[in-house]
Amino acid sequence: MENKRFYITTPIYYPSAKLHIGHTYCTVATDAMARYKRLQGYDVMFLTGTDEHGLKIEQKAAEAGVTPQQFVDDIVEGERGVKDLWKLMDISYDRFIRTTDDYHVAAIQRIFKKMYDKGDIYKGTYKGKYCTPCESFWTESQLVNGCCPDCGRPVIDAEEEAYFFRLSKYASRVRSLLVDTDFLQPRSRVNEMVHNFIDPGLEDLCVSRTSFSWGIPVDFDPGHVVYVWIDALFNYTTALGFCNDRYPQADFTKFWPADVHFVGKEIVRFHSIIWPAMLMSMELPLPKQVFGHGWLNFGGEKMSKSRGNVVDPYVLAERYGVDALRFFLLRTFPFGSDGNFSNELLIQTINTDLANDLGNLLSRTTAMAEKYFGGTLPSGQAEGPEDAGLLAAVNALRPRYEAEMEKYAFQNALAEVFAVIARANKYIDETAPWVLAKNEADKPRLARVLYDLAETLRVCLVLLRPFLPGTCEKAFAQLGVGEDLQTWDSAAAFGALPAAAALHKGENIFPRIDAAKELAALDAMMNEQKAAAEAAEAPAAPAAETAAPMEHRPEISYDTFCKVEMRVAEVRAAERMKESKKLLKLTVFDGERERCILSGIAKWWAPEDLTGKKVAIVANLAPRPMMQGKYVSEGMLVAADTPDGGCSIAFYPADLPAGSLIH
Ligand code: MSP
Repeated sequence: MENKRFYITTPIYYPSAKLHIGHTYCTVATDAMARYKRLQGYDVMFLTGTDEHGLKIEQKAAEAGVTPQQFVDDIVEGERGVKDLWKLMDISYDRFIRTTDDYHVAAIQRIFKKMYDKGDIYKGTYKGKYCTPCESFWTESQLVNGCCPDCGRPVIDAEEEAYFFRLSKYASRVRSLLVDTDFLQPRSRVNEMVHNFIDPGLEDLCVSRTSFSWGIPVDFDPGHVVYVWIDALFNYTTALGFCNDRYPQADFTKFWPADVHFVGKEIVRFHSIIWPAMLMSMELPLPKQVFGHGWLNFGGEKMSKSRGNVVDPYVLAERYGVDALRFFLLRTFPFGSDGNFSNELLIQTINTDLANDLGNLLSRTTAMAEKYFGGTLPSGQAEGPEDAGLLAAVNALRPRYEAEMEKYAFQNALAEVFAVIARANKYIDETAPWVLAKNEADKPRLARVLYDLAETLRVCLVLLRPFLPGTCEKAFAQLGVGEDLQTWDSAAAFGALPAAAALHKGENIFPRIDAAKELAALDAMMNEQKAAAEAAEAPAAPAAETAAPMEHRPEISYDTFCKVEMRVAEVRAAERMKESKKLLKLTVFDGERERCILSGIAKWWAPEDLTGKKVAIVANLAPRPMMQGKYVSEGMLVAADTPDGGCSIAFYPADLPAGSLIH
């Protein structure tokens, strides 16, 4: 007999701050997939965890005045920490790995040494562009306008003695893995990896650091700590007992290679290029698939603490229920694409699908069974012409749902189930049970109608179990459905429920939400959060006493400086943007032509104070697409930071011609 196993993972999250709805999104999706596979009878291993080393955490801990270990312990194990959040969200993980766990630390040292002994890790000098917040090195060609391509912040030149992994050695094998197989999903992500990263030439990867100490020490070279990706990526194997004895080696043999790693699109590069190359070096089998899911944004922007637009899953789960939130996340956004989170959408989805369609169907069915038959349906039942359509829909449901789930298309799988739920609601209208109830002779027909509804609900609920674990249990209890009829097999076809089903009306599992009231409350909370973020962003202390040490950029030659073309420009128009509170859209005349510059000064400058003024711009900055390419900013307004966190703009005399060179 085939022994079916399924190994699925989430990324291990950085415990540098409390997790938000974006992390919850990925974890809920992974949980739904794990539950679905268990439902199908697979022996599932579902791994999640936290990625606890690195400069950022070292810095955050120092700011908080605690050790890095205390800092991560609090975020992971503390009240409302990572583990609490997963408990709240009903996440059924089998293992939770922390990269500070002793067994992982020891295993990483062994892995590092093995790759070193093989010659795939060697010592060299790293010179590169480093983005501190992202802890990522980039090559010159990957920078966007000289900044980090991920977060848009400035990078610094970094140089230090470091160990390197021979990534280049595996470039062609990795390339064919991506191009010739289904390894990376969705397929649309393959092009980006191949064209942006592999084809321009894969450079060897820096895998150790000496500039910070919060990491796994390279045990044969004191001073070096293993730098992020070896430590982080091998978690998927160490948590199965690879190179350690915390877990039996048999787990590794049983579950490796992973069936799928779910990861956000920003770390697809690490999972689809670096990870396979490292596994090739270790001569281990490769995971079967990496799926790069999209981002949840808010108001069209990336969620971030400094923007004050981070959505807190605790607040939503506590207000609307864990299952409603889980459902919303997977029902609304196609997993492979970006989505825009909004409170309106959340409430609308809960009210439409859960309260109106599913909740109502259940409460109407159980209420009618109680009212007309005292809860237990008689077994003498009469078929009717309306039945065939509903039965056909139910019989076709499981394979259709399965096909979507196998593609990780949660949204489509749920759409299949909700189409059948809508069909059942229509069946109520077609059969009008309240009319049948008036006539004793129609009772067998009425019983059959209620049976059909209960059975349709049962099949739908079986398939909803991965998404709504808690509420399905309650709904099954109301339908009198025991565990034997909650199985995958029992959802294959209509009719497993015994005719004399015993139903009872219980609590309303999905009460309707008062949309206006809730939206007002959520908006007020969000505004408060924004105000707090803005206050935190603007330090009020006087400059002279608390001036932060100046951050110097590297020395440049006169020739390099001469490459920067700064000119006087006339602001011909300035306007606020509906897409962003931070940016002003300026139309400036540079002496030759008008150009558009988007400038992040809206907080401090009103459009009318700029129009007609002569300002300084950097004129030869490469044009930069912004707002998903809707605008192209063609240059930069020169402005100075002020001690209170604002910005000061120098104006030139009105009679100075636009286009005058500044040097
Ligand atoms: N520690 C690394 C991952 C190492 S995996 C070997 C890391 N951590 S993270 O805390 O930044 O988490 C990133 C993951 O969280 C994303 O890849 C994604 O799965 C999820 N998300 C974080 N913010 C998100 C959104 N706004 N939207 C959707 N998912 C998001 O990277």
